[in-house]
Amino acid sequence: MAASRVPLWAVCVLRVALATVYFQEEFLDGERWRNRWVQSTNDSKFGHFRLSSGTFYGHKEKDKGLQTTQNGRFYAISARFQPFSNKGKTLVLQYTVKHEQKMDCGGGYVKVFPADLDQRNLSGKSPYYIMFGPDICGFDVKKVHVILYFKHQYHSNKKPIRCKVDGFTHQYTLILRPDLTYVVKIDGQAIEAGSVEYDWQVTSLKTEQASAKPQDRARAGKAKDWEKPFLDASARKPSDWTGELPGDWPAPMPQKPPYQDGLQPEGIGRDVWLHETLGSAGYLPTFDLSEFENIGAIGLELWQVRSGTIFDNFLITDDEEYAESFGKATWGQTKDPEREMDAVQAKEDIRKAQEEDEEELMAGRLGGHESYLNRFHKRDEL
Ligand SMILES: *[C@@H]1O[C@H](CO)[C@@H](O)[C@H](O)[C@H]1NC(C)=O
Ligand SMILES: *[C@@H]1O[C@H](CO)[C@@H](O)[C@H](O)[C@H]1NC(C)=O
Repeated sequence: MAASRVPLWAVCVLRVALATVYFQEEFLDGERWRNRWVQSTNDSKFGHFRLSSGTFYGHKEKDKGLQTTQNGRFYAISARFQPFSNKGKTLVLQYTVKHEQKMDCGGGYVKVFPADLDQRNLSGKSPYYIMFGPDICGFDVKKVHVILYFKHQYHSNKKPIRCKVDGFTHQYTLILRPDLTYVVKIDGQAIEAGSVEYDWQVTSLKTEQASAKPQDRARAGKAKDWEKPFLDASARKPSDWTGELPGDWPAPMPQKPPYQDGLQPEGIGRDVWLHETLGSAGYLPTFDLSEFENIGAIGLELWQVRSGTIFDNFLITDDEEYAESFGKATWGQTKDPEREMDAVQAKEDIRKAQEEDEEELMAGRLGGHESYLNRFHKRDEL
């Protein structure tokens, strides 16, 4: 019996090895978030973020997150982390978002970028891997986007997923598994799940590769085109990487085999061909739907008509259970107190409104009913 016992240190190592946390941000160190998040200067009119827990919250400090501050603006801000590939691993993307301003039209989503993102030049044109989260505009758009970049195109989820539209903080989780299944959770509850291939109506690279005939494809091309950079899986962790997350980590150099006459780097099927060639040459593993080679940044790149949205508790990990515990330790702890504070404020608002009405009645004036009927918006569907 004793011989089969696993020493305690081994158990500890195993437990630590279970979860890899690629990025985690709770904004608990005051203004130091500014060292980790880079505001894009691509457009001088981009709106600014500040750290705030809003007008009501569960915990004044823990609920502080990035809040949009200017109406009718585009926003573009991002943070970098040590690049990784999710090939063969689960990818969990999670964060919380609160539209306390009565969101009428604006984005509440995040984007995940390749490591070669130029953060200072971040704009709507910057290529991304994943866009995930709620988008609200008028009565028509109330959806959760899950957009995946595959084969040089963005693919939206074809199954509609409805987002939360009230003014409370909600937790959004996207899980992409290596078997090409996915789960979308809101507030810890799975609200959509299935096959990426099916729900995005995109054929996986594996299926195509099986039927493709590489020898049938034209192989004419130019060395110049071949040398264009592309998103590369072979980026290595720099030896001097310290674990701190400064915004200026240099983008890794794309690595390609030398140009050979007759290669066809452009055109239809280019990336399938590229993956095949590089894969068989041992330069690049084959990446499929929802597998990304060089994930290296997360950002908010969106438009808001009315500002006030707060983004918090960002997490990128390979471990579904870790994401769950992190969610419970953050949003799980403050969600109920947040509603209590809102209820207290709402009661106070009603009391004040009634007082004002009574004063108006005493003064012989009528009306004023709408004034407090309008104050329940946090609970309501917008
Ligand atoms: C901002 O981004 C756009 C689109 O990518 C680009 O055309 C433009 O040159 C950029 N502006 C600056 C100041 O970098
Ligand atoms: C910003 O990025 C765009 C492509 O998205 C590029 O055309 C432009 O030259 C870049 N600007 C700077 C200053 O790097």
